[in-house]
Amino acid sequence: MNRSKRLAWAKCALMCGLWNTVWAQPPGPPRQGTPPPTGAPLPGLSPSELARFQEGLRRFQEVVSVSGTEPATNGSGFGPRFNMNRCSGCHAAPAIGGSSPAANPQVAVATEYGALNTIPSFIQSNGPVRVARFIHASDGSADGGVHSLFTVTGRLDAGTCSIAQPDFATALAQDNVSFRIPTPVFGAGLIEAIPDRTILANKAANSVAKQALGIAGHENRSANDGGITRFGWKAQTRSLEIFSGEAYNVEMGVTNELFGSERDTTPGCSPNPLPEDRTNFDATSPVAAMSDIAAFSEFMRWLAPPQPQAGNASTAQGQQIFNQIGCALCHTPVLNTGQTASLALSNRPVVLFSDLLVHHMGTGLADGIGQGNAAADEFRSAPLWGLGQRIFLLHDGRTPDLVEAIKAHASDGSEANAVVAAFSNLPDAALQDLLAFLRSL
Ligand code: HEC
Ligand code: HEC
Repeated sequence: MNRSKRLAWAKCALMCGLWNTVWAQPPGPPRQGTPPPTGAPLPGLSPSELARFQEGLRRFQEVVSVSGTEPATNGSGFGPRFNMNRCSGCHAAPAIGGSSPAANPQVAVATEYGALNTIPSFIQSNGPVRVARFIHASDGSADGGVHSLFTVTGRLDAGTCSIAQPDFATALAQDNVSFRIPTPVFGAGLIEAIPDRTILANKAANSVAKQALGIAGHENRSANDGGITRFGWKAQTRSLEIFSGEAYNVEMGVTNELFGSERDTTPGCSPNPLPEDRTNFDATSPVAAMSDIAAFSEFMRWLAPPQPQAGNASTAQGQQIFNQIGCALCHTPVLNTGQTASLALSNRPVVLFSDLLVHHMGTGLADGIGQGNAAADEFRSAPLWGLGQRIFLLHDGRTPDLVEAIKAHASDGSEANAVVAAFSNLPDAALQDLLAFLRSL
């Protein structure tokens, strides 16, 4: 460690020690019994909740085709535009419900069953699953929407449907594309059950320490009912069911009871009655009656959170440093759920490492897209639980490297600049402890 680094560290140790008493975090919850492995249901579910989880898990893996005729598929309604043909294709690693797998399944789906798609340059077989948004429309007005990578044109089940893929080469040349990788959905039911008032109380907490470091942050809200939205990279979506309806329509092209119209209405491209996914009121059991989007939500709602590895002296030290240098001011270690209709979700500590607020992250991370109250450079503090098992990091999956992901927090206009400066000044041993802690999550 050179002299200036040592000085900065000494200064920080002094001030951070002081700040640490101000924002001392509550200790983690006591762990009881053996925690469920990643991808398992929450402990303590009722038989009905467990049955809905199992059915949802099954449907989350179903492969859809246009009219259900492709061999080895089990649903219909696919397309006419799509990014993938099953939820579990993108939410795959380290278990079903997670984020992008190491090998991108979008490459194979591009030409499955006769489809004629070319693979855009930003999709690679060893790169992350990506969804593309355009920043501007061709007339220069704001766009921001997802432009699906592929079309069903040429597939054996697509009839005469003939539509072109978006012109990604031109959009890339114009710097008009931004990417997002899948966020994992482990523990999503617990995140859904955190009351708005808890998010607001945490926003107001530690205000002196936050101000000293230039950290603000605010909630994103639904333009319709005013409730706090919390899912997605910009905390843009209110609930698991709304996310499911949107994802089914946007990623897979399946119309449903929440998003009922095709995104591309070219004649000859939508052979099915709409909506393609619906509640089956004639089913003989309540579980079988669920629409797919209800079933997906039930799967995600009852999915256990990622389990951290057992700690040691180094990870304990690393967690202290995480608190001391201010990471914890955005990545809040614990928020609690409120009273809900389910015992398994009620009054639980949620060790998510996020405040569920959006923060200005500077020009380096800005993606040019506003959603709700989240501006072009604002993102939700990414929940860090499960971090040790993630392959690609940050909203666009730009790096697999933890240190790079942290350094990318710093750029013009970022609320994390002071914290990253303290991070960059950590002595080697402290840095190793912090990384050990992050990898244990
Ligand atoms: C093509 C890949 C892809 C497919 C297929 C896909 N997703 Fe996602 N998922 C994403 C991406 C990308 C995000 C982040 C979106 C954003 O923030 O704009 C995401 C985010 C989510 C989230 C938000 C979780 C959180 O806490 O932020 C939920 C819930 C979700 N997806 C559910 C589903 C369901 C249900 C399906 C099947 C209908 C599905 N997804 C299919 C790529 C995919
Ligand atoms: C001002 C709030 C803020 C502070 C301070 C902050 N972060 Fe973050 N962090 C974020 C946001 C917002 C993202 C998502 C950014 C994106 O994807 O563009 C993020 C993403 C991450 C990621 C990537 C997670 C993923 O899912 O890809 C890691 C790792 C991380 N932060 C660790 C840290 C560490 C360690 C510190 C302290 C040195 C820290 N952060 C300080 C807000 C913050």
